[in-house]
Amino acid sequence: MKPYIYVTRKLPKEAIERFEAEFEINMWDYEDVPVPREILIKEAMKADALLTMLSDSIDETILNAGENLKVVANLAVGFDNINVEAANKRGIAVCNTPDVLTDTTADLAFSLLMATARRIVEAAEMVKQGEWKSWSPLLLAGSDIHHKTIGIVGMGKIGSAVARRATGFEMEILYHNRTRKPEVEKELGAVYSSFEDLVMKSDFIVCLTPLTNETRNLFTREVFKKMKSSAIFINVGRGPVVDEEALYEALVDGDIAAAGLDVFVKEPISAEHPLLKLSNVIAIPHIGSSSVETRVIMMKLCLENSKAVLNGEEPKTLVNKEWKALVK
Ligand code: DGY
Repeated sequence: MKPYIYVTRKLPKEAIERFEAEFEINMWDYEDVPVPREILIKEAMKADALLTMLSDSIDETILNAGENLKVVANLAVGFDNINVEAANKRGIAVCNTPDVLTDTTADLAFSLLMATARRIVEAAEMVKQGEWKSWSPLLLAGSDIHHKTIGIVGMGKIGSAVARRATGFEMEILYHNRTRKPEVEKELGAVYSSFEDLVMKSDFIVCLTPLTNETRNLFTREVFKKMKSSAIFINVGRGPVVDEEALYEALVDGDIAAAGLDVFVKEPISAEHPLLKLSNVIAIPHIGSSSVETRVIMMKLCLENSKAVLNGEEPKTLVNKEWKALVK
């Protein structure tokens, strides 16, 4: 019997066909509807590998249900949706998709920054709604990007790629990270900064930090109050890093000028959410790595990682390095 891989969304045929000779691959029926939890539990009970989405909660119940489960391959670089500790306890490998999405996600982060600064969504809507009455000197005047200061919170690979893009706009680059990045300082002239200094001095604060116990609710009302009133806040990391109520108040009270958000505390965000009522907020549906090319590469990487583990080999992009010792 071939090892069984369950995929929690419908993926294009081209991503999986190469693996079908070796594995039995079954997918959830829909591309845009998440698999119901009861079905996920049933599938986990049968599966040797699960190919999961960042929107699936892979908690202890799912992991414990998987008696034969050897690997969870998550279609994302972030893996805060997976209980890695519980996976360790059961000797299950957890894999993600770093590197292959770095530039695509940095492109999105920078385009969200630009769209927010130059009010692109408002401008496009005005034209489409027939509300453009005349050219006028300050019509939808936004903020400059070039020669401004960008503060990157979370200087991993995506953060560095955003910083690289910022050099093209001759921006000053500040960054805050758990560890200093001498190579980024040398290559891009980025300056390490305390979190407080970064939020006070930056014109653009770009949040790319992963969600951990330390970063949950990092951006509070006090933090937004320290920002420049002209500051623009961009979040392409994870929603719960931000206290959304605090962000709303900061935008309404003029503590900051605008926000561009790709991620939210609860996804999908409700259309009734107060943040979405503000004209100085651009909200997009967690599409950081969503280019066709990159998503297909990510899907293949997930399957390659699953294949490696099921064949007793080390996967390319393993999250829980402890796994190697656990399976020996
Ligand atoms: C991920 O893959 O974790 C990011 O959210 C990119 O969209």
